[in-house]
Amino acid sequence: MKTDNVSKQRADRVWLTKAACDLEDFRREVERTTQLSDYPHAASVEKNVLIYDGASVLKTAATGEGRRAVLAEICEAFATGPGVFILKRAFEDTAIIDTASGIFDEIIDEQHRTGAGGGDHFAKPGANDRIWNSLEKHCLKDAENFAAYYGNALIALVSEAWLGPSYQMTAQVNRVNPGGQAQSAHRDYHLGFQTSAVIEQFPAHVHRLSPVLTLQGAVAHCDMPLESGPTLFLPFSQTYIPGYLALKRQEFRDYFDRHCVQLPLSKGDLVYFNPALFHAAGTNRSADIKRVANLLQVSSAFGRAMETVNRERMSARLYPALKVMLADGRLSGAQAANAIASCAEGYSFPTNLDRDPPLGGLAPKTQAQLMHEALAGGWEAAAFTEALAAQARKKLS
Ligand SMILES: [Fe+2]
Repeated sequence: MKTDNVSKQRADRVWLTKAACDLEDFRREVERTTQLSDYPHAASVEKNVLIYDGASVLKTAATGEGRRAVLAEICEAFATGPGVFILKRAFEDTAIIDTASGIFDEIIDEQHRTGAGGGDHFAKPGANDRIWNSLEKHCLKDAENFAAYYGNALIALVSEAWLGPSYQMTAQVNRVNPGGQAQSAHRDYHLGFQTSAVIEQFPAHVHRLSPVLTLQGAVAHCDMPLESGPTLFLPFSQTYIPGYLALKRQEFRDYFDRHCVQLPLSKGDLVYFNPALFHAAGTNRSADIKRVANLLQVSSAFGRAMETVNRERMSARLYPALKVMLADGRLSGAQAANAIASCAEGYSFPTNLDRDPPLGGLAPKTQAQLMHEALAGGWEAAAFTEALAAQARKKLS
């Protein structure tokens, strides 16, 4: 009898179920107030969401000790804090954003003309326009603008705060037209995109793992007053471990609808949130605002990203742009390193260790390391492209 009890308790601990989710447990997690005093680098708290000033974060992060403190604060804001924050004025030069918006408009027009472009897993056709893998399309269309855009120090800083180095950037544009309806509350990739039947097959520690494998961000490409429908969030909801399953139950969705918060954004602001946070894009009630955000989905070096990205092709395109921009002073070395981190593969594995043995360590050279080496050595673009291809061949089985 005692054995049965131990076994049942253990099974209930390891196998989370939709049926066992409890709204009172959930309320104990989410009915908390964000204290500004716990986040000394934040500028304010609005509707339980932390607000940071981009320039002041960068100023603090300029010293080793300051960087350590800021990254730790951001890390805990995601993990145990409200799980969402806004970085105001993350792009001081919004001309970079405007140029990128023009590129995205061109891509959307091409999708309309050719009937290309996929559907959307969250919205009805026509309500919005999606650019899947805007990362690669952006780089191939205008590598210099890509370098300036992803050279942004705050994108790199926040990605590293949650995922550590060698993260894998992916991005998707969402342009929500007036009349576009709100999404239903959800969590994001990985487990957030699975059915309850699938989610219930993963042991509890994988429910904890999923949110540390990715990070969600968004760059505001236009001013987004509340009427245009910026994202709805439920602060602290990422801390409820069975939340992937809870969202399949109506009373949790109703709770989200009653308690979610929404903040206006300005062009050039960045929003970041834990992928396990309950959230949904809002309804665009405006008459004429096409709400455009570039959604950043950053994956851990150790995870599998949602999208396939041809990083070899992107790196070949980015390299000559970086060379020119570094030479004429339009890009600093640090900005170039940020752009490389968003473009090239930053991790050594998987590889073929017969052909690609680690030299002077345990991890073979990465695509990103190769790009740094080429830039430092002033290689010609053709030589770099050939080296990229040779490296890719070595990794094949
Ligand atoms: Fe989402």
